[in-house]
Amino acid sequence: MLDINNISKYFKRGSKVFTALSDVSLKIEKGDYVSVSGSSGSGKSTLLNLIGGLIRPDSGEILYKGESIFDQNAKYLNSYRKENIGFIFQQFHLMPYLTVIENIKLSCYQKSHYDSINEYLEKCLLVNIKDKYPSDLSVGEKQRAAFIRAIISDPELLLADEPTGNLDPQNSSILMSLIEDFNKKGGTVVLVSHDPSVVNHSNLNVKIELGRILNGDEVS
Ligand SMILES: Nc1ncnc2c1ncn2[C@@H]1O[C@H](COP(=O)(O)OP(=O)(O)OP(=O)(O)O)[C@@H](O)[C@H]1O
Ligand SMILES: [Mg+2]
Repeated sequence: MLDINNISKYFKRGSKVFTALSDVSLKIEKGDYVSVSGSSGSGKSTLLNLIGGLIRPDSGEILYKGESIFDQNAKYLNSYRKENIGFIFQQFHLMPYLTVIENIKLSCYQKSHYDSINEYLEKCLLVNIKDKYPSDLSVGEKQRAAFIRAIISDPELLLADEPTGNLDPQNSSILMSLIEDFNKKGGTVVLVSHDPSVVNHSNLNVKIELGRILNGDEVS
């Protein structure tokens, strides 16, 4: 489904050029649960942002269903992100001036997406607080709201960047089982985490150090 071929990404720091990712290749199939680990600064978020089409590589290509996502027009990249990708971040990134339900509706771009909002609010124990603003929510509630916003439009690919980094063990395990359910229904997951227990859920474990993939171990 996703072919990441020889991707490199550089960032300028003053007059110096810093290599964030160097010649990274990875194949992700539909239904995969990929865990990405590695030290701070190793390039994990950069890889996720490239897959999500948020930043462009300096060399290499990313093919989604055989099409290079960066070689099309701007409209293609916008619809690639909107229609295929759901994002969850460590810092939630909910809109502060919108309520829970308004934040979720931001991701709905077809009438049918609205149909499952109530079901997800119930599943995520957010029904009674759907009209609250993010500042009035607990961290677990914020992340569950961010989860619904990410998956409500039924994306093929859920990209999660340390989504449990700010959660206590209980909230962390609730979120992990929601992500696992998404995967069991056929959704593809790429999850960056420092938590070693994440690999219990994944079928492909990728370790990155200094911008390079050390392995891509298939779990049989
Ligand atoms: N926009 C940017 N401008 C300059 N340097 C950047 C930028 N984004 C990332 N980098 C650098 O690229 C390297 C990889 O960053 P990245 O955020 O991908 O690391 P990470 O593995 O996600 O780290 P962490 O675990 O701390 O989140 C880091 O050294 C970082 O400083
Ligand atoms: Mg990061």
